[in-house]
Amino acid sequence: MKLCAAFIAVASASSWPGQAYNGTIYQYCGTKVTLAAASVNATCSLDFNGFDFAHISIPGCFSQGMGSNIVECNGVEGVTDPENLDVTVFWQQDFDLDGNLDNSTCAEDADITFSCQDNGAAPSGLFF
Ligand SMILES: *[C@@H]1O[C@H](CO)[C@@H](O)[C@H](O)[C@H]1NC(C)=O
Ligand SMILES: *[C@@H]1O[C@H](CO)[C@@H](O)[C@H](O)[C@H]1NC(C)=O
Ligand SMILES: *[C@@H]1O[C@H](CO)[C@@H](O)[C@H](O)[C@H]1NC(C)=O
Repeated sequence: MKLCAAFIAVASASSWPGQAYNGTIYQYCGTKVTLAAASVNATCSLDFNGFDFAHISIPGCFSQGMGSNIVECNGVEGVTDPENLDVTVFWQQDFDLDGNLDNSTCAEDADITFSCQDNGAAPSGLFF
C-alpha cells in the first residue's frame, strides 16, 4: 500500500477556557497549536486574526520583538524543530459587566495563521 502524506498546516490543536477565583484571573483562556512551519533560516509571521494575547510561547523561534497581535520570529539550525512550531497563546481576557469571565476575547486555533519567508541563511543580529 502506498502511503499518502497530506500537507496539514495545523498538526494538532487545543483550546481551554480561562479560570478565575474571587474576581482574579489565574489562568487566561488559551490555545496551543503545532504549526507545520519550516522556520529554520526563515522569518515566520504569526497572525492572530485581530485577537490580542496576554502571553505567548514559541520554543525555538527567536524574535526581535513582538507586537500586540502579530509575532515575527526566526528558527535556528540545530535548535529549532525544522518542521513544526509549537505555539502556546494565552489570550487577553477580562470580566464582563456581570463579573463573569468574558470569553469574547478568546480566540481558537483557526484564528492562528502563519507564513514563513525563507531567508536562505541563519539570522544575524540580536535575538531573544
Ligand atoms: C466562558 O466560558 C466558560 C468555560 O467554557 C463558561 O463556563 C462560562 O460560562 C463562559 N462565560 C460566558 C459569559 O459565556
Ligand atoms: C474571596 O472572597 C470572599 C468573599 O468576598 C472573601 O471572604 C475571601 O477572603 C476572598 N478570598 C481571597 C483569597 O481573596
Ligand atoms: C541555514 O543557513 C546556514 C548558513 O547560514 C546553512 O549552513 C544551513 O544549511 C541552512 N539550513 C537550512 C535548513 O536551510
